[in-house]
Amino acid sequence: MLTAFIMAGGSGQRFWPLSRNNKPKQLLKLISEKSMIRETVDRILPIIPAERIFIGTNIIQADSVKNELPFIPEENIIIEPLFKDTAAAIGYGTMIIDNKYKESEIIVLASDHLIKNEENFRKRLQSAAEEAKKGGIITLGIKPSRPETGYGYIETNGECYIGEPAPVKRFWEKPNLERAEEYVAAGNYLWNSGMFIFSSEVMLSSIEKYMPKHYSILCNIKNKICTGKYGLELSELVREDFEKFEKISIDFGVMEKSNNIKVIPVDFGWNDIGSFPALDEIFPCDENGNVVKNTHAININSKNNIIIGNNKKIIATLGVKDLVIVETDDALLVCDKNSAQQIKKLMPFLPKDN
Ligand code: GDD
Ligand code: MG
Repeated sequence: MLTAFIMAGGSGQRFWPLSRNNKPKQLLKLISEKSMIRETVDRILPIIPAERIFIGTNIIQADSVKNELPFIPEENIIIEPLFKDTAAAIGYGTMIIDNKYKESEIIVLASDHLIKNEENFRKRLQSAAEEAKKGGIITLGIKPSRPETGYGYIETNGECYIGEPAPVKRFWEKPNLERAEEYVAAGNYLWNSGMFIFSSEVMLSSIEKYMPKHYSILCNIKNKICTGKYGLELSELVREDFEKFEKISIDFGVMEKSNNIKVIPVDFGWNDIGSFPALDEIFPCDENGNVVKNTHAININSKNNIIIGNNKKIIATLGVKDLVIVETDDALLVCDKNSAQQIKKLMPFLPKDN
């Protein structure tokens, strides 16, 4: 039986002023009328029942996550006491799932991706879970279309086909631009889609091998999980353990070191929507390349802008190009598209409750 662990503890600062500390990207209705986390859960419900869907989040976001997902059992909302990145989140989540559902294949998903062909996506997850029964950590690889430095790259031996599991030579997390360009040109690299499929035994033994400090902290945590406590109560109980975790992602901690990874190349229409410019690929634009949402915009001699309003004001532009303009009730962002990856630089200057 399949179990899902959805990682929903990221901060999503690159979508400020839409996203805030207590409302990160996964809680935004960025693409449809549903929040991204709700989209993520609804997408897998046809193959995984709600009792087997676990969400990893943190204290600040837990209440909003629960409100978004009222049909997920409360004990499945795993609350991390401190923000320690995905190695700790996946280790902790895997321990909790392993304690409840032994011998299950676990599908780890991000909570903020766009998937176009959902039927095909579910089919690939099911075959990845079948493959995980044979051992190893299974990844889903996307053919790269640009030298993106915000993704992991999966090096294959070159012979791989959509839907067919292939061995992985190496995993390289977030290379610099020069290396990313080499990888795209080489032709035998795929983007890591950020989804991982494995048995709990494989993940826990990988953490033991490559992240022994994480593993020993997790062993201590295991006794606390066995008390049957959950939610905020368990979160408080494991706070002292979380303090000891190094803040590191699973990609750097396990994936870059493991020689037990396979990849299934997929083409279900995937987008990580990492920052505002990604909206260009998702929403239709006018004849001048402007994407306009939630406002009546007047654009004269303006090209290739992303303009998001709050349905209250008219936004008018004259002779500007490649801008991101975002208006909310209490903030206005005007940013060059090429600087949109750096919006987090604004954070230290914002009031605390932003
Ligand atoms: N529970 C929990 N706790 N979730 C977390 C935490 C944490 O401490 N940190 C991040 N997350 C969640 C985010 O909300 C997101 O859903 C997911 O984990 C991935 O984190 P990101 O911070 O968005 O990672 P990334 O996009 O930089 O990189 C990862 O995804 C890329 C594809 O989107 C890597 O796996 C890359 O290799 C991959 O290419
Ligand atoms: Mg991401």
